[in-house]
Amino acid sequence: MTLHSSELFNDPRLAQARNLVLQALSDHQKGIVGIRPATPNLVSGVADQIAQFAQDRGGPLYYPYISSGLGNGALIELTDGSIKYDFINGIGAHFGHSLPGVVSATFDALLADTVMQGNLQQSSSTVDMIHLLTTVSGLDHCFLTTSGAMAAENALKMVFQAKMPRRRLLAFEGCFMGRTIALASVTDKAAYREGLPIAIDVDYVPFFSEDDPEGSTSRAVATLKSHLKRYVGDHAAMAFELVQGEGGYYTAPRSFFVALMDVLRAHDVAIIVDEIQTFGRLSRLFAFQHFELDEYVDVVTVGKITQVCGTLFRSKFKPRPGLVSQTFTGASTAIAAGIYIINQLIACGYFGPHGLNMTLGTYFSDRLEELSHRMPSVVGGPFGTGMMVAFTPFGGDAAKVKQFSLDLFEAGVIGFTAGSSPMRMRFLPPLGAVSQSDIDAVMACIEGVISKGGI
Ligand SMILES: Cc1ncc(COP(=O)(O)O)c(C=O)c1O
Repeated sequence: MTLHSSELFNDPRLAQARNLVLQALSDHQKGIVGIRPATPNLVSGVADQIAQFAQDRGGPLYYPYISSGLGNGALIELTDGSIKYDFINGIGAHFGHSLPGVVSATFDALLADTVMQGNLQQSSSTVDMIHLLTTVSGLDHCFLTTSGAMAAENALKMVFQAKMPRRRLLAFEGCFMGRTIALASVTDKAAYREGLPIAIDVDYVPFFSEDDPEGSTSRAVATLKSHLKRYVGDHAAMAFELVQGEGGYYTAPRSFFVALMDVLRAHDVAIIVDEIQTFGRLSRLFAFQHFELDEYVDVVTVGKITQVCGTLFRSKFKPRPGLVSQTFTGASTAIAAGIYIINQLIACGYFGPHGLNMTLGTYFSDRLEELSHRMPSVVGGPFGTGMMVAFTPFGGDAAKVKQFSLDLFEAGVIGFTAGSSPMRMRFLPPLGAVSQSDIDAVMACIEGVISKGGI
């Protein structure tokens, strides 16, 4: 017997429709080829739209960014008529703008019987997605959800339940884990937990410092040991960001992580690696693979570029019935896009020391380094690794860096700030689209804005 759905998805009219859609997309993308300023007669309408948004949401947008719905790889057209290089991509969430491959991969999902996939109803694509994630991670299980925060919440629930009655958590100073009440207890930023009750007791460990590799490693290990001694047998897990994202693109060598992870192992403390920002951007699919920490990880969270978010975990952290559940797993199109993106990353030369991520990331960092040599008083860095790239403009002065980010946006490049003291500018280029010439165009814009700043 043939399923009716097989007949539908093999109907030649669908293939024709897909081709027509892709042709129309390609035709209309042709004009999106480089930075373009806003069009004066569109600007006031958009200003009204943005003011309306701020009123309805109860807070303003950081950038006056309303997408027109059409882009071309690294470029996005906004409703004010401007075309900009998007080198932040919703903070690492998008593979590129209007990519034909993504449109094609999600085409059948548009016809899925339901818009969202969920708890009682799974589709073949969800089955494929969790199998793909468990296979590529080497972990045993995967539980999908709709946000990075929920993936992190589920990770915490799993480790606390498995390590009952341990109640405390360890994390790095300056870490970011998300914005639920529990995660705001972990995320090391006062403004993100102002007025909130503390849901979890967290003990912080200082991060690696490039200025003092040995000293910072021994200080981190000593601090960890002192927490473990102060609360004997009470820590369930330590949360790691192997490249600190919101914190300011700080990373460390493998030896730093191993020194801490060995101590954690010896004390039976679980290791959670938050890959929500790092996934897909370094020399391997997962940052824990890039740092060769596979043997240490117990629970890993993914999100952003995967389009649906997930908690990957070893069998001993399997939650008992009732602990994790929800209505939505993700949109049918998001799951299809996520599978496509992960497969592209695996198949298209992104990984390895000479893969696209490290090559293009180094190219971008080298250009920033050249700029820092030419303008040492206003450009510090570069920082980050792979396709997570940052630099410190204007000595990291928060007000000046924020203004720089807005001026850069106006000039046609979208990046974002990271960290607070110093504040940096970070870039997450679109993995599915970016080229050296895009990086050159972005660098020209960065240099132009810095020079204009005249500081
Ligand atoms: C490292 C890290 N963890 C967790 C999160 C939370 O993800 P979401 O914003 O999807 O809830 C983020 C988001 O920026 C992140 O960068």
